[in-house]
Amino acid sequence: MNRSTLSPTILVIFGAAGDLSWRMLIPALYCLSTEGCLPEKFAIIGIDRKEMTKEEFQSHLRAGVESFCRLKIDDASWSTFTTFLAQYHSGDLSHPDTFGVLAKAIDELRQQWGGTADPVFYLATSPTLIEPIAMGLGKVGLGKNTPGSRIVVEKPFGRDLASAQALNRSLGEVFAEKQIFRIDHYLGKETVQNILALRFGNAWFEPIWDRRYIDYVQITVAETIGVEQRGGYYEHAGALRDMVQNHLLQLLCIVAMEPPVSFAAEEVRNKKTDVLHAIRPFPTEMVHQLAVRGQYGAGWVHGKHVPAYRSEPDVSTDSLTETFVALKVFVDNWRWQDVPFYLRTGKRMPQRVSQVVISLRPVPHQAFPANAVDQWHPNRMILNIQPQESILLNFQAKRPGPTIRLTPVDLHFSYPDAFKSESPEAYETLLRDIIHGDSTLFMRADQVEAAWSLVEPILQVWESNPPTDFPNYSAGSWGPEAAQVLIARDGKSWFESPEDEE
Ligand code: BG6
Repeated sequence: MNRSTLSPTILVIFGAAGDLSWRMLIPALYCLSTEGCLPEKFAIIGIDRKEMTKEEFQSHLRAGVESFCRLKIDDASWSTFTTFLAQYHSGDLSHPDTFGVLAKAIDELRQQWGGTADPVFYLATSPTLIEPIAMGLGKVGLGKNTPGSRIVVEKPFGRDLASAQALNRSLGEVFAEKQIFRIDHYLGKETVQNILALRFGNAWFEPIWDRRYIDYVQITVAETIGVEQRGGYYEHAGALRDMVQNHLLQLLCIVAMEPPVSFAAEEVRNKKTDVLHAIRPFPTEMVHQLAVRGQYGAGWVHGKHVPAYRSEPDVSTDSLTETFVALKVFVDNWRWQDVPFYLRTGKRMPQRVSQVVISLRPVPHQAFPANAVDQWHPNRMILNIQPQESILLNFQAKRPGPTIRLTPVDLHFSYPDAFKSESPEAYETLLRDIIHGDSTLFMRADQVEAAWSLVEPILQVWESNPPTDFPNYSAGSWGPEAAQVLIARDGKSWFESPEDEE
C-alpha cells in the first residue's frame, strides 16, 4: 500500500511506559516504520503515570527495540522512527485533565497536517482502566463523533460473561462497534492466518474437511515458561480465562468455520461466530467428564529445576488457580456432528508447541495383510503454529523391498524454507490492520460474549468445587493424569511431537 494514500494517523498509547509497549508495540511499530508501512503523516503520543521527558521516553523505547525487535536496529531507521515519537505526557490515565491535554495535542497535530488526522487509542493498560479511559475520551468528544477514531483493547476482556457484557455496553456508549478493536494476538500470527489459506485457497483439503473423513481434532498450546512475573494477574485469571476463552477457541473457530463468501471483515467474523454458537454447551453435570484442570508442582524443564506455581512471585502458597486445562468439545452442525475436538493448554510443559492435529478416519477397507500394516496409524495433518512454522501431511507409503510393508511418512512444508523470509510478528500484523482500519482479525462483541458463555459453566463448576489435588502435575510433564484419561477413554491419545521443537 502506498504510504501517501493512508490516512494521517495519531496513535495514542495509554500505558506507553509499560511492558507491553516496551516489548511488543514499539518494536512492532519500528518494523512497520522500517518497512515503509506507516502513513506518511503519523505520530505516536505516549501517556503514562511515570514522569519522563520525551528524550527519556525515546531512549527507554530504543532499549526495548534493541532487545525485542526481530530487526536489528540501525541508526538511520531509528532516527526516522523517532520523528514519529511526537510526544510523551505523564499523568493519571483516568483523570479528566489527561483527556483535556490529549484533545488539545490531537487538535494541534490535526491543524499542522491540514485538518485531518485519525486518532487511534491503544489501551496498553490494566483492564480496570478500559472503562475510565473510554469514558474520558467520550467526554472530550474523541469517540463516536470523531471521524476515523478507533479504540484498541487488549485481553482479558472481562472475567466472565456478565463483566464482558458490561464492558461491551460501556464501550458501546462511546464508540461504535466498528471503531472497537479487541485484540487476540493469536489471530495476528502468520501460521494461524495460513490455516485459512490452506483450507480455502486449495482444492485438496476442503472436500474432506468434515465428519465423513475427519475422526478428531486436537489443538494444543503448550508453553515451557511458568507464570513468570505475572502472578498478580494470573492468580485471578487461570488458564481457562487466560488461554482457552480466547486463543484456543479462536483456533477452533478457524479450523471449524464454513468457507466465507469473501474475506470481508464481517463475513469472516460471522462465520467464526457461527462456530462458537454451534459448540455444544457444557452441561454442569458433565463438566467433570469433559474438562480437566491442573496446576504445576516443581519439576525439571529442559534440564533446569523450576519451582512450583505456588512458589512463584505474587502467587498464594495455597493457590487453587489452574495452569493447565484440557477439554473435549463438540461442534453441533452438519459438518462436525460427533467429531471430538480435544483442546489443551498448559504452562511448564516439556515443549513449547502450538499445533493443530487433524486425524483422519481409517480407510474403509484394509486390503493389505496384517503384517503389511503393522506400523499403520491414521493419516494426520499437523499444522505447526509455533515455534516451528510448518505443515506435515502424514500418510502411508510402501517401504522399499520385495514385500508390501506400509510405513507412515511425512510431506513437509516449512514456512522459512519456502519463503526464505522471516514472518512478521503478530503485533506488526495487528497494528498495521488497526492503522488501515481492517477489523477482520479482531474480536467482535458478540464473539467475545459467545466465548464467555461457553466457558462460564466450567468456571462455575470449578469455582464451587475447589480442587483438592493441586499441584497435580510436575513441571516438565504433559499435565495431570486426568488429561490422558480424558482422551484415552475414547481410545485415542494426545499427539506428541517426536523431537523437542525449541
Ligand atoms: C497470552 C497469555 O495471551 O498469551 C500468556 O496471557 C501466554 O499467559 C501468552 O504466555 C502466549 O502467547 P504466545 O504468543 O507466546 O504463544
